Amino acid sequence: DLQVQLDKASGKISPHMWGIFFEDINMGADGGIYAELVKNRSFEFDHPMMGWKRLGNVPEGTFLIVNDGRRKGNPRSLKIHKAADIKIGLQNEGFRGMGVKQGNDYEFSLLYRQASPDMQVKVELLNEDDKVIGTAALLLSQGASWQTGSVTFTSLETSPKGKLNVWFEGAGDVEADMLSLFPKDTWKGRSKGLRKDMVQLLADMNPDFLRFPGGCIVEGRDLANRFQWKKTVGPIEERELIINRWNTEFNHRLTPDYFQTFGLGFYEYFLLAEDIGAEAVPILNCGMACQFNTGEVVPLDELDEYVQDALDLIEFANGDTSTPWGKLRAEMGHPEPFYLKMLGVGNENWGPQYIERLAVFQKILQEKHPEIEIIASSGTDPEGERFEFLDGKLRAMNIDIVDEHYYRPPAWFLSSADRYDDYDRNGPKIFAGEYASHTTRPNGPGRSTWEAALSEAAFLTGLERNGDVVTMASYAPLFGHVDGWQWSPDLIWVDNLNVYGTPSYHVQKLYSLHKGTDILPVKRDGQNVTGQDSLYASAVYDANTKDLIIKLVNYNDQPIDANFQLDTKRKINGDATKITLANESLDVANSLEEPLKIQPQTTQVTYKGKTIKDTFLPYSFTVIKVPVK
Ligand code: AHR
Repeated sequence: DLQVQLDKASGKISPHMWGIFFEDINMGADGGIYAELVKNRSFEFDHPMMGWKRLGNVPEGTFLIVNDGRRKGNPRSLKIHKAADIKIGLQNEGFRGMGVKQGNDYEFSLLYRQASPDMQVKVELLNEDDKVIGTAALLLSQGASWQTGSVTFTSLETSPKGKLNVWFEGAGDVEADMLSLFPKDTWKGRSKGLRKDMVQLLADMNPDFLRFPGGCIVEGRDLANRFQWKKTVGPIEERELIINRWNTEFNHRLTPDYFQTFGLGFYEYFLLAEDIGAEAVPILNCGMACQFNTGEVVPLDELDEYVQDALDLIEFANGDTSTPWGKLRAEMGHPEPFYLKMLGVGNENWGPQYIERLAVFQKILQEKHPEIEIIASSGTDPEGERFEFLDGKLRAMNIDIVDEHYYRPPAWFLSSADRYDDYDRNGPKIFAGEYASHTTRPNGPGRSTWEAALSEAAFLTGLERNGDVVTMASYAPLFGHVDGWQWSPDLIWVDNLNVYGTPSYHVQKLYSLHKGTDILPVKRDGQNVTGQDSLYASAVYDANTKDLIIKLVNYNDQPIDANFQLDTKRKINGDATKITLANESLDVANSLEEPLKIQPQTTQVTYKGKTIKDTFLPYSFTVIKVPVK
């Protein structure tokens, strides 16, 4: 028997409890949610022709890469000098091919400048067998300044691995840059926007917050390649790309073509957060590069630029349109503020060098923006010495929120369901900013199995029970592209055309969709239910819908009969909803072939009186929602 203390709430669930961690890892942004299909559109990758192949018999000097330092952020362009009697062009391979769909429209665009009047561009979309499945022509007009040309055409077939040919026809000289191909059918129909199917899965989670842009890419492999938000806003052709921190050998996988073009920049992140009803939670570099890479630090007396970035970001998000950064936000299309409330300083940074730098940020932010809560990093080691050190220091500094990361085996998640039960309520709040149960680490990449997800579901009962002090939680990383990943497991897997949620996705989504407002103690023999007989439970009351919501994990290979005794003066109102995620094998996973192998099953049930009596499947996570009178 389990007692649910329906009339004795122990606290309020944080209003921003369940959210999303976004990082451009595993082709999450470029080649992923950012719907651009052309790789290296502005010739700024390490090698300017990466992703491109010359077509035709190209005489020497026909294609030149021009580097013009006057073109801010994007100095390289392609100069074409062409005689009438030759056929020349370029082919782009896309990010592991281009995913295109039959009957959908695609917009090709480029920036160009042409001295002579006669050139035209012809584009061809090819499928994986080099068959032409879409064409368009674009006449280029003469002019001394750069101009945009674009043309829309329809794909006649679906192809997961298309390519794009760009032919230059006529005779003369033309300079070209930002050769781009986007689907017209993006999230909310935004021009040059985001992949609709990927955003939809995020929106379906009903997330309370969106943390961006990472992760290690905040830090960069060195300080020169740290994430600098100011370089990611304004016209996209002026955003200066950098090498991705994950363009490295990791888990024995090398992705040498991984760059951050920042078409998905800070403005777009804020917009995405707003679109999906989530609070924007940006994390900024604290003056330290990734300590797993170079670990460079900026001298303390040169930290001003970094702190200024934080102050200016607050202005960009919240400032009046008469302020310089507020004005830019308005010019980009959003005069209304984004209502930023939280800001992270550093990601997985540690050591006294972190504390010194954090203190500088804290002092100035508290002086100038006491309304903004500061999130500090606790590193990756929430059990060991590093964590002890940080926990003590961050407490002493009275930091608002501490970001803890756990990539641990399932056994750790199961045994840590009580992690916050006795946590000091007077200090900082906790952001479980990156959690994921890793079935095979450290010997190799883990899979997103039911074992991983069910152990997370058990751990999350503990976060929910302590939802007054653990005020935010997000799984990490978010996306993995099956043809270009560095890190696994991930919450959502994609290829160029498809997307599916892992069992872990369904677990967090169930928590998020059944969040409630008040934490209700669930006891067994007077104790929290944290693994006795391999059962884990938590409960909340939703004051908005007047529902009691119980969550139970049965981590046994047998069904379990459980009785929830409701300790209340109220009555439960008969018809209830029971949602179950279950599988008798812990080793199964969803996949592109079977995307919904593990998915929630909903049934309507009736419970009478003050008892909820039911049988719970082997290896299952169940959510029961009962109206209360
Ligand atoms: O989620 C993948 C990485 O794990 C993040 O970039 C980093 O913060 C952590 O080490």
